[in-house]
Amino acid sequence: MNHQKSRLGLAVLALSLSVTPALASGQAPSLRTLASARGLLLGGAISGELFNADNPDEAATINREYNAVVAENAMKMRAIANSPDPDNYLFATADAMVASAQKNGQTVRGHTLIWHDSAPAWVYEIQEKTAMRAAMTQYITTVVKHFGNRINIWDVVNEAISDGPGNPLRNNNPFAVAGPDFIALAFRMAHAANPAARLCYNDYSVEGLNGKSNAMYALVKGLLADGVPIHGVGFQSHLDTNFSVRDSGMQANLQRFRDLGLDVQLTEVDVQMVGSGSEKEKLARQAQVYGELLSTCLAVKCSAFMMWGVSDLTSWRAGGKPLIFDGDYVKKPAYGALIKVLQTAGK
Ligand code: G3I
Repeated sequence: MNHQKSRLGLAVLALSLSVTPALASGQAPSLRTLASARGLLLGGAISGELFNADNPDEAATINREYNAVVAENAMKMRAIANSPDPDNYLFATADAMVASAQKNGQTVRGHTLIWHDSAPAWVYEIQEKTAMRAAMTQYITTVVKHFGNRINIWDVVNEAISDGPGNPLRNNNPFAVAGPDFIALAFRMAHAANPAARLCYNDYSVEGLNGKSNAMYALVKGLLADGVPIHGVGFQSHLDTNFSVRDSGMQANLQRFRDLGLDVQLTEVDVQMVGSGSEKEKLARQAQVYGELLSTCLAVKCSAFMMWGVSDLTSWRAGGKPLIFDGDYVKKPAYGALIKVLQTAGK
């Protein structure tokens, strides 16, 4: 009898250790609880709304559901380096976001060091190769060292590949003045400033097998062959409800980057609701796409699933209601789809 009792006790102990605290207390598990149990970074972009006293739901939702965050704008060059003088760099907003993340146990993805879109006016005035290399080196070194080990994942170069036919590098990139190796230079400088950081190339419209993802594959393969310290690729995944994970060849595409030994991260997921049908049908289709994106990510052992925002209220493309919380921070069907995948995928 005693023996039986102790066996029962062990079984109960094993059961209690195998369930999450949220489940044990009867609450629904959060995304972050389930993602953390899988070693997956799951979260999203945070904006100034995080500190908006009129919108306490924003911070509450981020901290309840996300184990990782990324600044939507506060770490872009235009936000930090309005002036080329590092003594005048503006870190206050980014530092406040990092402090909030640390307080709430969240990993921070750094976004982004070199991006044509966020380059301040003074960058465009530099027309000489040596001067541009010096400017890039100073900016990257100062910023990466400023955050130090508070940020150990960086989007080093963002959106360098053209959308045009043939998909070479875009021709409106001011940093190209630094020479054809400006991408390699950026990665080398970031690595020198923080050797512990995972360094990523990040782009959009590269989720499936297509000309642009082929160009990205050639780019990163070439960087690896040249010994450039690149560790991962970010697939932004700004999509809509017409996107087909299967028809686009997304899993095969992600897998070929994994086969190069790179981290694969979905970095800016949002799925706009488009097309005809009732609101209910569109919400269901959106949930299906979200679920398939996360399943595919997990199938290739991705390391992050980041969404571009929190709620449809504050999304950069709010009109398309692309996120998993509605304008009142109520969970949409897409939220449930992510929970279900985290609970069941591979089990
Ligand atoms: O901060 C100023 C504010 O002072 C001013 O009053 C206001 C007037 O327009 O502009 C504000 O800056 C805006 C900034 O967002 C903050 O709201 C910029 O004009 C606007 O261009 C900027 O847009 C951001 C965009 O990147 C360009 O940096 C979006 O919020 C942000 O969601 C978007 O994010 C990008 C990723 O970084 C890279 N991948 C694509 C993604 C979507 O475009």
